[in-house]
Amino acid sequence: MPAYTYEKSLENAYKVNWRIEEVLGDRQFDTSRPWLPAQLSGAAAISCLNDEEKMKLTHIELGAYAHIFRFVEEFITPTMVNLAQAVALKEDDAFNALTNFAAEEVKHMALFQRVRALVDEAIGFPLALLSNEQEVATVVLSKNIGAVLLLVEAIEWFTQLHYLSGFKDGETLDPLTRAVFKAHWQEEAQHAHLDDLEIKRAFGAMTDAEKDEATDDLIDLVGAVDGLLQEQVKMDVENLARYLDRTFTESESEEISSNLLRAKRYTFIESGVTHENFLKTFTSVTTSQQQEKVQTALGALLQS
Ligand SMILES: [Fe+2]
Ligand SMILES: [Fe+2]
Repeated sequence: MPAYTYEKSLENAYKVNWRIEEVLGDRQFDTSRPWLPAQLSGAAAISCLNDEEKMKLTHIELGAYAHIFRFVEEFITPTMVNLAQAVALKEDDAFNALTNFAAEEVKHMALFQRVRALVDEAIGFPLALLSNEQEVATVVLSKNIGAVLLLVEAIEWFTQLHYLSGFKDGETLDPLTRAVFKAHWQEEAQHAHLDDLEIKRAFGAMTDAEKDEATDDLIDLVGAVDGLLQEQVKMDVENLARYLDRTFTESESEEISSNLLRAKRYTFIESGVTHENFLKTFTSVTTSQQQEKVQTALGALLQS
């Protein structure tokens, strides 16, 4: 991994900085196309849905996918504000890059709020989505800062992976979907670099006991993310039934739920914590015992 710097990150951020209007324009979602890339969707493996219904499921999934970014940015933003505050009037480059990072996340939240309205308009009713973001953010902010930053870094690296492996060359996908996640990918790249710098700073100042606490808190946080994904899956199934105007039997609901949960766990947990760049940062600040503890807990979660 090249050595990142605050100065270079901000310079890159200024190069790619976009306005919400440039991303959305007056575009609408196209319901005749899939919205979420196949790599991130649970639709393909579901036998109780026909092809048209599977495509419509990707609309429901994309609505939740975009909303979950809005949801986690609720705690990412104040995390960056707090880190910026800690270096104010002491380290100009770090302060400038971190405040810009926070401002970009505020913009992303506004973007995803607009996306949510466009999704609802295209689908024809308001999607049921996770709604306790401030409560969750308060809990997250009470955790060890090293754990919070590792979770944030995993998220920001998977935004890179998802765009490059799914949206970028997804020619059949809805064009608005691709435009939104291209814009997000462009600004998130700098965030992932800043996370790496801040993780090294945070862990560099910790005692061994604090590093153990960070490891334990990271396991708790990922467990909490999984709980949120399970809640959203229940709502996805309700959203789909409403969208298709169809009632599912118990076994159909179970089949849809288990495939959606598997896809969401890959999307929001596995693709982040197994990202090569995340692992480089993580292994550089933790002991092999701590790494093993996290790997074991994540392995058990992902296989449950
Ligand atoms: Fe973001
Ligand atoms: Fe970000």
